[in-house]
Amino acid sequence: RTARFTLDPAFTVGEVDPRLFGSFVEHLGRCVYTGVFEPGHPAADADGIRADVLGLVRELGVTTIRYPGGNFVSGYRWEDSVGPVEDRPRRLDLAWRSTETNRFGLSEYIAFLRKIGPHAEPMMAVNLGTRGVAEALELLEYANHPSGTAWSDLRAEHGDKDPFGIRLWCLGNEMDGPWQTGHKTAEEYGRAAAETARAMRQFDPGVELVVCGSSGRSMETFAAWEATVLQETYDLVDHISLHAYYEPHDGDVDSFLASAVDMESFIEDVVATCDHVGARLKSKKKIDLSFDEWNVWYMSRTDAQVGVLDWPEAPRILEDNYSVTDAVVVGSLLIALLRHADRVTVACLAQLVNVIAPIMTEPGGPAWRQTTFHPFAQASRYGRGEVLDVRVDSPTYETRKYGEADLLHATAVRAGDGTVTVFAVNRGRTEPLPLEVSLGGLGLTAVVEHSVLSDADPEARNTLAEPERVTPHPAAGTTLDGGRLSAVLEPLSWNVIRLA
Ligand code: AHR
Repeated sequence: RTARFTLDPAFTVGEVDPRLFGSFVEHLGRCVYTGVFEPGHPAADADGIRADVLGLVRELGVTTIRYPGGNFVSGYRWEDSVGPVEDRPRRLDLAWRSTETNRFGLSEYIAFLRKIGPHAEPMMAVNLGTRGVAEALELLEYANHPSGTAWSDLRAEHGDKDPFGIRLWCLGNEMDGPWQTGHKTAEEYGRAAAETARAMRQFDPGVELVVCGSSGRSMETFAAWEATVLQETYDLVDHISLHAYYEPHDGDVDSFLASAVDMESFIEDVVATCDHVGARLKSKKKIDLSFDEWNVWYMSRTDAQVGVLDWPEAPRILEDNYSVTDAVVVGSLLIALLRHADRVTVACLAQLVNVIAPIMTEPGGPAWRQTTFHPFAQASRYGRGEVLDVRVDSPTYETRKYGEADLLHATAVRAGDGTVTVFAVNRGRTEPLPLEVSLGGLGLTAVVEHSVLSDADPEARNTLAEPERVTPHPAAGTTLDGGRLSAVLEPLSWNVIRLA
């Protein structure tokens, strides 16, 4: 059976915020050290940033980059990470049982962003685990005050005369999680976040603040946590965070391929909770969503890895090597985010390099693209503009976790110049899926490109030995005739169909 939908310029979801294509650099494993930063590497510049990685980061099209954690931030002492490198202390990182050398810190992070380009925006987290209002304010003043105070003059003395201008701030990380250093109840965190937000706004009413939602939808306190925290912070924050990681459980690939069903419900649940609190407070304000950690993560392997660490520097942990199947799921998660672009205004693929990442590196060696690199890069490149409302009529398949799920998962984005890109996933593992899209009102006449990521071997991966094993390829036979697009989506595939 054919899957179908209709595109009409009159029916839209909303404008895509470029920050939907954010990522995340945490002091975890080899994300920073021998990932982004490796002094002495043949490709490293004078600041120790790997030019090969920088090139891939630009190609990936990431916008905002969240830093420095993650769980790491709940023990973070920002002042250890600034000033002369030789004076910076070595510290235990309790979150990842590692030793933090502080060779890379706040100034290096800002320098890295500036090297990526003007579109790369910082997203800095403050520590609300072991610290509080005072340290958040000191960091804010160090980072953003022009000059003439102890903290701002110290920044200049450290070589950064110009303020960093960090606008977007996270008020801690996953504070609902018992694994979090300084974990809090919703009431405790709600108060701490409100007081930190109020103080940060005293310094600058223009800061944009993200309050912690639940660390996952399956947390027992999910939704109640959001409601309690927002009751305290509604007028003081702009976004609430969502985190979600997916992996196949017990070999259940069919459910895994439908992970976006969960992601979309999660988003809708959080929107409903935000709006419920807004209604209770009789507020006209809407809270936006910051999906600031999402990805495929084979998390079941991680606990064992981290638990046995004896405080190494930059250990090889969370280095998932992604398959074609994983890339199709990542593509589908991107579709889910775009389909909710009216409320999801920030999203961060966790993480950027080596740690559950689209980019891998070898110390002293090359950098390469994982399979998951491709859907992200294509979505970031062509998913800018207005999301069109897509209601699919699709054949379905049975999943253990989500019941009946659509074989087709899709969205479409109309750029400022009127061109349209359809992003579509065929979740079916064995059969091609015929697709028909009626788009008469859009004035489109040509298929510019139909790119597909699929493989006869769904387990195929890119590796150090074979870094280009999986790349997107052109699909044949896609037509646009009389306002009707016809295509066939290969089994288990991610598709980008560009129309002009
Ligand atoms: O991204 C890896 C970890 O996942 C982060 O440190 C934490 O916030 C989440 O649990």
